[in-house]
Amino acid sequence: MGGGYGDAAADPAPVQPMALSAPDKKRLQEFLDATRENTESFLGYPVSKDFAFEDLMEFLKYPLNNLGDPFSDSTWRVDSRAFEREVITFFAEHLRAPANDWWGYVTNGGTEGNLYGLYLARELLPKGIVYYSQDTHYSVAKNLHFLGMRHIMIRSQANGEIDYDDLRETLRARRDIPPIIFANIGTTMTEAKDDLKKIKGILDEMAFSQRYIHSDAALCGGMAPFMEPRPAFDFADGADSISISGHKSFGSPIPCGIVLARKCNVDRIARSISYIGNLDTTITGSRNGFTPLVLWHTIKSLGVDGLKARIDHALDNAGYAETAMRHAGIEAWRNPGAITVVFPQVAECVKQKWQLATANGQSHVICMPNVTRAQVDALIEDILANPVESKQ
Ligand SMILES: Cc1ncc(COP(=O)(O)O)c(C=O)c1O
Repeated sequence: MGGGYGDAAADPAPVQPMALSAPDKKRLQEFLDATRENTESFLGYPVSKDFAFEDLMEFLKYPLNNLGDPFSDSTWRVDSRAFEREVITFFAEHLRAPANDWWGYVTNGGTEGNLYGLYLARELLPKGIVYYSQDTHYSVAKNLHFLGMRHIMIRSQANGEIDYDDLRETLRARRDIPPIIFANIGTTMTEAKDDLKKIKGILDEMAFSQRYIHSDAALCGGMAPFMEPRPAFDFADGADSISISGHKSFGSPIPCGIVLARKCNVDRIARSISYIGNLDTTITGSRNGFTPLVLWHTIKSLGVDGLKARIDHALDNAGYAETAMRHAGIEAWRNPGAITVVFPQVAECVKQKWQLATANGQSHVICMPNVTRAQVDALIEDILANPVESKQ
């Protein structure tokens, strides 16, 4: 026995995992090959693939967990919350959050940020009604169901943007109930952006003193701050909370996102939890400690100039795709300032080959920064070679 309190020398060896068997290793290798191939051929979903996070590989050896609130002290210290705070501060600045009155965290994705924004709205305006357009992402109906919030769907215009006249008329009939507007800053199918200045104008016109606006900027939140003209979508334009998907415009090997809200509102619903020595402000308890490093790495390695250049590149390629398709006789179009090019539904084999999201007779290609003109040309060839009328 040494100088310890018991028989420390008899410390049993920890259980070691077995090395993988040859068939298991083969299975992983096959999966890796298939993942490479599938990643190469997808054009229809808004996910960037142009990233390299070798600098971060060592962190996968540690159980990083950003448990609790990123801005409060915590007993748990195997975390990346200092990096998370820098990421959130970067977005607060570029989303023009009010000075000293913002709060946020890195989420698991856009859906969680939307859930958070709606939750906050419900706590502030328990009698409120949520208004959202027909083109809103499918997860929002589920979120509203979780939260048990009253809601009304507003018509969309043909380009996917909310129909402001329908919104005005619907609000007019319920002037005694606080409105909660769920605005789309880039709809899933056509990347249409609801204009917050117009929405705010309608709310002002009807003198709603109690109201809440949430911006679902899943795709565009990482691009819009760096675009000219700048879309009306952020805090300075009237948003009370904003949700962004980190794996979309920024790119990440693991889904992630950012949510930001006005701190004065968040403070009204925060609860202190002694078990973690922290505040229970976030939707989930355990939170990813790796993805804040990913977002931080992108911010540091590209900088604002790099982010701008990357978006200009994507917009140029979207312009190329739209024009090339039209020259080829395909009725392609896109919303102003959008990297999503919409065209009539393609044949099933083309949809499968390029993983093209398709709904309501429309397909789209999303010219994320990694999409090349050669891929666009190859897609056009496939569309022309496989007219929809032909039986698959
Ligand atoms: C407009 C919009 N909102 C929300 C989401 C959900 O985001 P996530 O997949 O990051 O949860 C998406 C996803 O495509 C979207 O397009």
